Amino acid sequence: MAYDEEIIEQIRRRLDRPIVLIGLMGAGKTRTGRQIAQALRLPFTDSDDEIEAAAGMSVSEIFERFGEEYFRDGERRVIQRLLDEGASVIATGGGAVMNEDTAQAIWDNTLSIWIRAELNVMVQRTARRDSRPLLKSGDPEKILAELAGKRYPVYEKADIVVDSHNGPAEAILNQALEKIRNFLNDE
Ligand code: S3P
Repeated sequence: MAYDEEIIEQIRRRLDRPIVLIGLMGAGKTRTGRQIAQALRLPFTDSDDEIEAAAGMSVSEIFERFGEEYFRDGERRVIQRLLDEGASVIATGGGAVMNEDTAQAIWDNTLSIWIRAELNVMVQRTARRDSRPLLKSGDPEKILAELAGKRYPVYEKADIVVDSHNGPAEAILNQALEKIRNFLNDE
């Protein structure tokens, strides 16, 4: 994937904290996060993967067997640990910043990016996989719209917003890199 090495160098010189991606399910946090990490030559972690590894079961199974509250507590602990591990790129689950402690840790200690997509794009993307327990209890489009209503006022607090459209991944990556560079330059 092509990007401007000068932008990468500028970011690498200034970045002194983890980059954290937030946003709704299917917005593209994991995909874009992995690409940002690769471009910046930083480690990438997806908090859902870490929760699954720690629990020894899938997110769906955790929801089924122990409920959402239990999942949220594990999520809070995993994200706190990841934030303590230094410079990296971390994609969080869509509900992570709805926990006040997690949100505060992210606002205080990271460069936060809201990965934002149109509702229909998230509906299409989430339909490809069956791994999201919150979308199984009804019409996914309706559930995503409701979650958007509740969560966007919180997501808006992120340092940067990146629009994750259906165009080429490279364009989204370059949009993210430019916005990160500009944000760090303006600090
Ligand atoms: C959730 C999003 C999921 C996962 C869990 C709950 C949410 O992660 O953490 O199913 O509350 O929005 P993704 O946003 O990576 O799909």
